[in-house]
Amino acid sequence: MGRFDGRVAVITGAAQGIGAGIARRFAEEGAAVAIFDINEEQAGATAAALGGAAAAIGVGVNVADGASVEAGVARVLEELGGLHIVVNNAGITRDNLLFKMSEQEWDQVIDVHLKGSWLMSKAAQKTFVDQKYGKILNLSSIGAMGNRGQTNYSAAKAGIEGLTKTLALELGPFGVNTNAIAPGFIATDMTDATAVRLGLSIEDFHKANADATPVRRVGHPEDIAAAAAFLCSDEASYITGQILQVDGGFRIH
Ligand code: NAI
Repeated sequence: MGRFDGRVAVITGAAQGIGAGIARRFAEEGAAVAIFDINEEQAGATAAALGGAAAAIGVGVNVADGASVEAGVARVLEELGGLHIVVNNAGITRDNLLFKMSEQEWDQVIDVHLKGSWLMSKAAQKTFVDQKYGKILNLSSIGAMGNRGQTNYSAAKAGIEGLTKTLALELGPFGVNTNAIAPGFIATDMTDATAVRLGLSIEDFHKANADATPVRRVGHPEDIAAAAAFLCSDEASYITGQILQVDGGFRIH
C-alpha cells in the first residue's frame, strides 16, 4: 500500500535530475506518473525505467508554451485517467552579471520557471477544483533570496514563492494544497554546468559547497524527492502556502 496508490502525478522537467528523482519516488509509492519534458526522447526513456506498479509515460512538453501545456494535460487525462498532483520542476539557467545579461536570457529563464509554473497550475486547476482535490508543488531555490549572476533566476524563483502563496489562498477552499521546496545545492547536470562556467572541477565545486553547508555534504535528488513525497501526500493536507528549505541548513535564518 503506497501513499500515492490511485493517484496520477505530472512532474515537469523530470527527464533527469531532481525531477527524475521525484518521479521515481512517486512511482515507487504507487502513483501513475507523466514526465513532461522538452526533451521528449529522454522523458520516454526515464518513464520506461521508473519501474513502479502503475503506468508511466513521457510527454514532450514545453512548459513555457500554453498550447503545449494544455495538450500535455489533455493527454494525461486521456491516457492515465485523471490528475491529482502537479510538480513544477522544469528549469534552466542562463547566468550572467547584469551588465552582460541579454534580454533573451532574462525572458527564457522567467518563461520556463515562472510562466511555466503558472501555465501548468492554470491547466490543472479545472480538474483539481471540479474534483475538490489536488496538490501543486513548485520548485523554488535558495537563490530566491538573491545570487550573484542570477538576476533572472533569483527573480523567477522569488516570483514562484509569491505564486505558491497566492495559489494556496485561491485554491485552498477547493481542496488544493500548494507548497514549494527551496533546495540548496543538489548535485545534477545543472550544478555541473555551473562548475564548468566557474572554471572549477565538479569535485572541487561539490567540496566547496559541502564545506559551506552545516550538514557538510551536497544534496541529491533523493533528498528533494523525500520532501516532495511528504508535501504531496495526504499526511500534509493541513500544510499549504509554505516554502520548505531543503538545503542542509545552508540558509538558516
Ligand atoms: P536539470 O537541468 O538537471 O533538469 C532540468 C530539466 O528541465 C531537464 O530535463 C530539461 O530538459 C527540462 N526543461 C528545461 N526547459 C524545459 C521546458 N521549457 N519545458 C519542459 N522541460 C524543460 O535541473 P535540476 O538541477 O534537476 O533542477 C530541477 C529544478 O530544481 C529546477 O527548477 C531548478 O531551478 C531547481 N533547483 C535546482 C537546484 C540544484 O542545485 N540542482 C537548487 C535549487 C533549485
